[in-house]
Amino acid sequence: MSDAATPTAAAPPVRNYAMSCKTLVTQEQIWAATAKCAKQIAADYRQYNLTESNPLYLLCVLKGSFIFTADLARFLCDEGVPVKLEFICASSYGSDVKTSGEVRLLLDVRDPVEDRHLMIVEDIVDSAITLQYLKRFLQAKKPASLKTVVLLDKPSGRKVSLEVDYPVITIPHAFVIGYGMDFAESYRELRDVCVLKKEYYEKPASKL
Ligand code: IMP
Repeated sequence: MSDAATPTAAAPPVRNYAMSCKTLVTQEQIWAATAKCAKQIAADYRQYNLTESNPLYLLCVLKGSFIFTADLARFLCDEGVPVKLEFICASSYGSDVKTSGEVRLLLDVRDPVEDRHLMIVEDIVDSAITLQYLKRFLQAKKPASLKTVVLLDKPSGRKVSLEVDYPVITIPHAFVIGYGMDFAESYRELRDVCVLKKEYYEKPASKL
């Protein structure tokens, strides 16, 4: 094998983004925390004897958690946890940085999930209004179990009382972008979780 193909333990590159005033969590920190969380999930679900025909259903909440779900699914694979994927879409933000408080379900699961082990996979919980809505909606489908895993928990923003079963990283109050999370549908592709510069949500995009 040539040197070029050998993985190295070199420090990750510093990535700068024009629209961000601060990198809050790097992709490398996310991977480390997600790997740890996957280990915990694997240990907790051993009691259910998960198999291909009795897998853990990861319910990816679109659009924000598509990258997190992809990484979590592969870390769970490393731990020998069989998963199946379903996609749901709920919206409460529109193109603002504050929740509208009203949740709309835009896409439901495709397969029946009755008697299945379900895990809602969310990118971020702030007021918790969205997650509370999704939990109630899915509980009504009578799953065998229902848990939540959330990449970023902003406990200071809670408007309803809700405990996340697997919070991966806790962050302070800030509007973040990257690693799947957007502002007005932009910036999902950033590798890291970053704080959006104020002028980017206070001015129309055409003025930037
Ligand atoms: P909540 O209902 O206030 O908990 O908000 C949940 C949803 O709002 C998340 O699934 C995200 O889509 C979005 N959201 C909350 N905070 C942020 C943020 O800081 N950046 C981007 N999206 C966010």
